[in-house]
Amino acid sequence: MTIDQHTTVGIIGSGAMGAGIAQVAAMAGHNVVVYDNNAAALSKAQSMLAATLQKLEEKGKIASAADILGRFRFAEHLTAFEECGLVIEAIVERLDVKKAVFAEAEKVVSSTCILATNTSSLSVTSIAAACSIPSRVMGLHFFNPAPLMALVEVIPAIQTDAALIPIATTLMQAWGKTPVTAKDTPGFIVNRVARPFYGEAIRIYEEGIADIATIDWAMTEIGGFKMGPFALTDYIGHDVNYVVTETVFQSFFYDPRYKPSFSQKRLLEAGWLGRKTGRGFYDYAATAAAPTPNKDVELGKMMVDRIVAMLINEAVDALHLGVANMEDLETAMTKGVNYPKGLLAWCNDEGTGKWLGILDNLYQQYHEDRYRASVLLRKQAMKNKNFV
Ligand SMILES: NC(=O)c1ccc[n+]([C@@H]2O[C@H](COP(=O)([O-])OP(=O)(O)OC[C@H]3O[C@@H](n4cnc5c(N)ncnc54)[C@H](O)[C@@H]3O)[C@@H](O)[C@H]2O)c1
Repeated sequence: MTIDQHTTVGIIGSGAMGAGIAQVAAMAGHNVVVYDNNAAALSKAQSMLAATLQKLEEKGKIASAADILGRFRFAEHLTAFEECGLVIEAIVERLDVKKAVFAEAEKVVSSTCILATNTSSLSVTSIAAACSIPSRVMGLHFFNPAPLMALVEVIPAIQTDAALIPIATTLMQAWGKTPVTAKDTPGFIVNRVARPFYGEAIRIYEEGIADIATIDWAMTEIGGFKMGPFALTDYIGHDVNYVVTETVFQSFFYDPRYKPSFSQKRLLEAGWLGRKTGRGFYDYAATAAAPTPNKDVELGKMMVDRIVAMLINEAVDALHLGVANMEDLETAMTKGVNYPKGLLAWCNDEGTGKWLGILDNLYQQYHEDRYRASVLLRKQAMKNKNFV
């Protein structure tokens, strides 16, 4: 199985992610076939792509929008995928639907066509199991918006032919992306390691330690993150962020480290999905007054340390369990969610002992498994060693 610029790429699902990935592939020189089972979604993607490419041409970022648009075919049937050498699926996040679509696609494509899923939180292995040649199935997890976000997680299922990893990695580099390899475990790298950024912040808020504006202020001004957890989840949408949290929690056999919160679940139930509905943790009405943070630096530092300790613990544990290597873990968190620095570098900067101390204090206080330190963090701290 080889892929080069002459390979036709098929995209299943023309929503936010499918359209974005299709744009990336066409801009890298591929002919692209886009299929969606909803004709309105397909035509919306078509006009959106035309408008986006036109804007890029006006800004001088591409030579000719028409040339790139000429590489697209929009299809209402999977049969159009016959000549594809790579198919990337970006449909609704439901295992039963994805399995059915993979089984359908396999009936059309050649035996050498690679089949990839853009799933955020489902098992790639179980999607591969729906295929008669599971060795050609893998995960290619892009981030939103796909044309702008550099990171792509390359995820081999347990059935995937190992030769596909370097093929996919080279292809993603040719598309101008930064690929990392992740084990097929819930949330892969980013959606696993980032969970405490939201979960621990919400916990601090629920316990009344600080209000949302104060926690967001601390995480941006003291922690150096681009957005605070509450502003960010409002931006992502609670329908998306809560569902990923819940799926990761269930997929980890209900490990309390990933436990969702009632505060966020209630927002979802109320339809307060964030910016897109005008209300989430914050009220976005024009008349609403922005809450004022309490700029108590000592309190702020305590909260940042607590959340960052939990994030570092996730990164160290992912390393310990072979989810990814050190370099890929650092790349994933800086390029996938724009953290100010890699979590292992952050751990090193202030020393493994400090972070273990914070976690052990929390564990002592709460007696909750949620705060258990990774055995690798403990081992390194006991030897006074960093991650190098
Ligand atoms: N939105 C994100 O931030 C994000 C980021 C990374 C990965 N993902 C993943 O990408 C996938 C797509 O997400 P999205 O945000 O683009 O969703 P979306 O709702 O914007 O688009 C999904 C599209 O798939 C189409 N579709 C649904 N069922 C289909 C079927 N059986 N056959 C063909 N087309 C079908 C829908 O008509 C829709 O146009 C999901 O697996 C999601 O978890 C999303």
